[in-house]
Amino acid sequence: MPDSVRYDVSDRVAVVTIDNPPVNALSPAVWEGIDKAVARAVADPEADAIVLIGAGATFIAGADIKVFDTLKTREDSFTRSAGTHALLRRLEDASKPLVAAIHGNALGGGLEVAQACHFRVATKDAKVGQPEVLLGIIPGAGGTQRLPRLCGAKMALEMCTDGKPVAAPKALAAGILDHIVSDGLLEGAIAFAKSKVVAHDIRRTRQIAMTLANASAGLDACAATRQALAKTARGAKAPFAVVDAIEAGLRGTFDEGSQREREIFAECVVSTESKALRHLFFAEREVAKVPDVPKDTPTREIKRAAVVGAGTMGGGIAMTYVNAGIPVLLKEVDDAALQRGLATIRKNYDVTMSKGKMTAEQVEKTMALITPTTIYDGFDQMDIVVEAVFENMDLKKATFAELGRVTRPDCVLASNSSTLDIDEFGRASGRPAQVIGHHFFSPANVMRLLEIVRGRETSKEVIATSLKLAKRLGKVGVVVGNCFGFVANRMLAYYMREAYLLLEEGASVEQIDRVLTGFGLPVGPYGMQDIAGIDVGARIRMYLNSIGKTRAEGPQSAIPDRLFEMGRYGQKTGAGWYKYDAPGSRNRTPDPLIEQIADEEAKKRGITRRPIADEEIVARITTALANEGARVLEDGYATRAGDIDIIYAYGFGFPRHTGGPMFYADTVGLPTVLARVKEYRARFGDYWEPAPLLERLVAEGRGFYSAESGAAV
Ligand code: 3HC
Ligand code: NAI
Repeated sequence: MPDSVRYDVSDRVAVVTIDNPPVNALSPAVWEGIDKAVARAVADPEADAIVLIGAGATFIAGADIKVFDTLKTREDSFTRSAGTHALLRRLEDASKPLVAAIHGNALGGGLEVAQACHFRVATKDAKVGQPEVLLGIIPGAGGTQRLPRLCGAKMALEMCTDGKPVAAPKALAAGILDHIVSDGLLEGAIAFAKSKVVAHDIRRTRQIAMTLANASAGLDACAATRQALAKTARGAKAPFAVVDAIEAGLRGTFDEGSQREREIFAECVVSTESKALRHLFFAEREVAKVPDVPKDTPTREIKRAAVVGAGTMGGGIAMTYVNAGIPVLLKEVDDAALQRGLATIRKNYDVTMSKGKMTAEQVEKTMALITPTTIYDGFDQMDIVVEAVFENMDLKKATFAELGRVTRPDCVLASNSSTLDIDEFGRASGRPAQVIGHHFFSPANVMRLLEIVRGRETSKEVIATSLKLAKRLGKVGVVVGNCFGFVANRMLAYYMREAYLLLEEGASVEQIDRVLTGFGLPVGPYGMQDIAGIDVGARIRMYLNSIGKTRAEGPQSAIPDRLFEMGRYGQKTGAGWYKYDAPGSRNRTPDPLIEQIADEEAKKRGITRRPIADEEIVARITTALANEGARVLEDGYATRAGDIDIIYAYGFGFPRHTGGPMFYADTVGLPTVLARVKEYRARFGDYWEPAPLLERLVAEGRGFYSAESGAAV
C-alpha cells in the first residue's frame, strides 16, 4: 500500500487514513491506496466496520488538479473515468459499514468518495462542496448522480453550479451528512460505525430511489437553474454542463446518469475553459511567492491601523480592516468630511444588514472598531497607516512627510494611490523602507484585488507583511513594481485608448460595451467609466500633460476630455457616456450626442467612420492588453504572466473562463497576436509597436505559458 494511505485496526474498526499533505488530494496513489485498504478491511476478520479519515488539517480537498493536465483527449479521459467509477462502486459495495469521517474540507472528489461511503460523519466546523465548476469541469466521480440522491436535485444543482462549500450543520439538515461529532472525530466515527454494525445498517447511496415527484421537481429546478445561469454565467460552459449531467440522472437510471456524467466530464476536462480556470487556480497560489522575498521573511503583526482620508476609497478600506477585526483610526480634514465618510460606511452596512448578511448587533460592533479623528494623535500607536487622500502628488508628499513625523519608525506606511510614484512618497516620509503601495480597487470592501506596489527601497519585511495582511483582509495580494499606473492601470490605459479609438473610427459606445460584456466582462469600458467617474481619468491626463507625459502612447482621443469639459462625469452627474434618469441613477439610455461628438472628432483627425465588426473590437482590445502586458513583464513590473492574469481577474472581472488577458493571448496563439499588432501598425500607425518579448516568444515558438516548461515568463 502506498505511504499516502495507512491501515490500522482500532476497537474492531478498520481505520483507513489518507495522508497526502498538504490537502490529501486524490493522486493516483491515493485512489489506489483507498481501494486496497477498503478491500483489506472487508477481508480482515479483526474488523467489523471501516472508517475513512484524513490526516492533517483536512479530509480530502478533491482530485489532484495537476493530474488533469495528463488527460490529453476526451477519449482518454472517458476511458480513465471508468476506473474511478468502478473503484467507487467497489467501496459502496463493501459488505461492512463504511463511514467517512470528515474534518476541514470534503471537496470535489473528496465529497464524492464520502458519498460512496455508507455514512458520513463530520466535525461541526467541517465543510463539504463540489467546486469543480470553478475549474471548468463537472463532478466526475459520481457526484452529479449521488449528491441529488442525498440532498435532492435542487440543492445539488446549487452546490454544483456555484461551487461554494456548505457548512456541516446545513449539510446535516440536507441529508448529505448523517451525524455531527462534537469531540474526537475518530473516536466518534468509530462509535458511529460500531452502532451501524449492531443495527446491520448499510446504505448505498446509488440505491436510494428517486421518486417520480422528486424527479419532476428536479427537472423543474434544472430549467430554473439554466435560466438563472444565462444571466450569471455568460460565456462559461461548465455550469450548464453540470445541469445536463444532473438532468440525465433524473431522467434515467443511476448507470445511465453516470455514463452521461463521464461523457460530459471528459468533454469539459480537455476544454480551454477548464485549462484557463486551472491556470488561474495555480496562478492565484503562485502570486504569494515573490522570488527575492523568502518564505521565512519576518513579518510584523498588524493589530492597529489608521486610514487617512474617508472618501470613496478610505471608507471602503476602513471597512475592509474592521471586517477583519482590526480596529481603525479614521482621519479626515474636518468634522464635516468625517461625518460624510462615516455616513457612507453606515449606509453600506445598512445595505448588508438589509440583505440579511449581518445582524444589527454585528454592525454596531464592527462600526465601534472605527475611531474617527481629525488630528494625528494616536498615530504613534499604529502598526500600519493607509493613505487615501486625493490623487495629488503635492498633497500626498505632504501627507507622507507628516506620517514620517507622527508614526513609529517600524510602522508600515501604505498609499492607495492608483498611479503615482511610490518612491516620491518614500523620500517625503524619510523612511522609504517602510513605504509601499496598497492599491485597493473600488469598492474597496468588495473587490478582492490588492496590488502591492514595491518601491525601490521598500523592505522585504514590509512586502512580506503586506502579503500576509492581504490574506487576512480577504484579498488576493499581488506584488508589482512601481511604474506609472503600476500593472492594472498601466495596461488599462491601452485598453481604454483602443476603446476610444474604436468609437472614433465608427463603433458606438453601446456596441463596444455590448461586445465586451458578451466576451464575459461584468461591465464594458464605457459603463465602467461612468461608474468610476470620467473626471478621474481627465485629471490624471491633465497631471501627466503637466509633466510632459501621456498614459499610453499614440493618438489620444479628445472625446473623454470633451465630456469632462461639459461636466458629464458619469452616473454621479446624471450623464457621461450614457444618459441617466437622474444623478446617481443607474438607469441608462444611449445618448445621440456622443455619436455627434465622435463624428466631429473623427473629422478633425481625418477619419472616415465605418461599421466595425464585433470581432475586431474583441481582437483590438485584447491585443492591446497582451502587447502591453508583455512589456510590463519584460520591464519586470510583474513577476509572472500569471500575476497579470490574477490582477485582471480580480481587479476588473476579466472573464475567468478565458484565464486572464495573458492566458487568453496564448489561447489565441502568440503568432496571431503578433500578426495583429503588425496589421494594426500598418493600418493605424507606429504606436502599435510589437513588444520585444512578444516577438521573441513567437520566434522561439513559445507562449507566455508553454506546455512543456510551465510558465515561460
Ligand atoms: N489538487 C492539487 N493541489 C491542490 C489541490 C488539489 N485539489 N488543492 C490544493 N492544492 C495545493 C495548492 O496548490 C497549494 O499548493 P502550494 O502550497 O504548492 O501552492 C496547497 O495545496 C495548499 O492550498 P491552498 O494554498 O489553497 O490552501 P488553503 O488552506 O488556503 O485552502 C483548500 C485549502 C480550501 C482545500 C483549497 O486549496 C482548495 O479550494 N482546493 C481546491 C479544491 C477543489 O477545487 N477540489 C476539486 C478538485 S476537482 C475534482 O475533485 C474532480 C472530481 O470530481 C473528480
Ligand atoms: P475621494 O475624493 O473620494 O476622497 C479623498 C478624501 O481624502 C476626501 O474625503 C478628503 O477630504 C480627504 N483628505 C484630503 N486631504 C486629507 C488629509 N490631509 N487628511 C485626511 N483626509 C484628507 O477620493 P478617492 O476616490 O477615495 O481616492 C483616494 C485615493 O484612492 C486616490 O489616491 C485615488 O487615486 C485612489 N484610488 C481611487 C479609486 C477610485 O475608484 N475612486 C480606485 C483606487 C485608488
